[in-house]
Amino acid sequence: MSLFITLEGPDGSGKTTQARLLAGYLENRGIAVLCTREPGGTKLSEQIREVILSKVNHSISDETEALLYSAARAQIVAELIRPALAAAKVVVCDRYADSTLAYQGYGLGLDLDALRTITRFATGGLVPDLTFYIDVPVKDGIARKRHGETNRLDEKNIAYHERVRDGYLEMAKAEPARWVVIDGTQPVGEVQKQIRNRVELELKKRGF
Ligand code: TMP
Repeated sequence: MSLFITLEGPDGSGKTTQARLLAGYLENRGIAVLCTREPGGTKLSEQIREVILSKVNHSISDETEALLYSAARAQIVAELIRPALAAAKVVVCDRYADSTLAYQGYGLGLDLDALRTITRFATGGLVPDLTFYIDVPVKDGIARKRHGETNRLDEKNIAYHERVRDGYLEMAKAEPARWVVIDGTQPVGEVQKQIRNRVELELKKRGF
């Protein structure tokens, strides 16, 4: 039994909290879990994350950014995610390839087909079994994020974040068997309950 779950959502949607709660819940149920994040997860991918998010690199081109995310992804897939799935673990990943389509594709306007090709190359075609989109209105997401430290990417404008959100909703609509859209304005516990219910269904399908 292996299961690959990703969480997507705008900045400040609470998906990191939800990923950790889900991983803890599964572990308590006696299931082996790998909980990780993108960009990051491995030493090399975390180094790439630093490069991407650093305010020093404000002149980074959109194409460079897309390729750096993809490079970080290629490494985490090879080094962590594939081995974990091969060991029959449940993988919970905070962001994955859909982030590149949403942010660099729908958000920045890079060619979606080119990004899909690069993503396939980077991941060897590994697609999640289940993807949760934690949906919050753009203004709520930005307000929540502002309580913490901001980085270079927070400074992008609201219209960009609206395009990202619309992109996510379009992808979710196009592939309803994989995507689950959850109203992220609900209390943390309620969001988590809905995630768990859906994960339990998937586990049952796999005879767990
Ligand atoms: P985080 O806040 O979830 O850690 O994500 C860091 C930022 O990276 C977030 O603003 C979204 C962005 N991002 C992309 O633009 N493309 C990608 O492929 C990934 C994985 C993240």
